[in-house]
Amino acid sequence: MSKLVVIKRDGTEEVVEGVHGHSVMEAIRDGSIDEIIALCGGCCSCATCHVYIDPAFADRLPAMGEAENDLLEASSERRETSRLSCQISFTDALDGLRVTIAPED
Ligand code: FES
Repeated sequence: MSKLVVIKRDGTEEVVEGVHGHSVMEAIRDGSIDEIIALCGGCCSCATCHVYIDPAFADRLPAMGEAENDLLEASSERRETSRLSCQISFTDALDGLRVTIAPED
């Protein structure tokens, strides 16, 4: 089982299963963490799946697309490590990835 460590808004951590080929957003949602709304279902049009990624994994992530960048640009909570979790497909290389759920915009 590949692990995904999720730091929730209250600072507590939960470990959920990262499934190869599923998105990080799906892993969080399927792990019964309800802080990710994922309103658009992963179509990269809502930004309610905003997370901060552990910088140690930055070079293992897929490149950010223009639509993702545009959505994050509209967020007042954007940081250097911001990503939309629906745009990150989980792979074995991401085993142990830590993500922090961003505050609600
Ligand atoms: S779920 Fe809507 S942008 Fe990620």
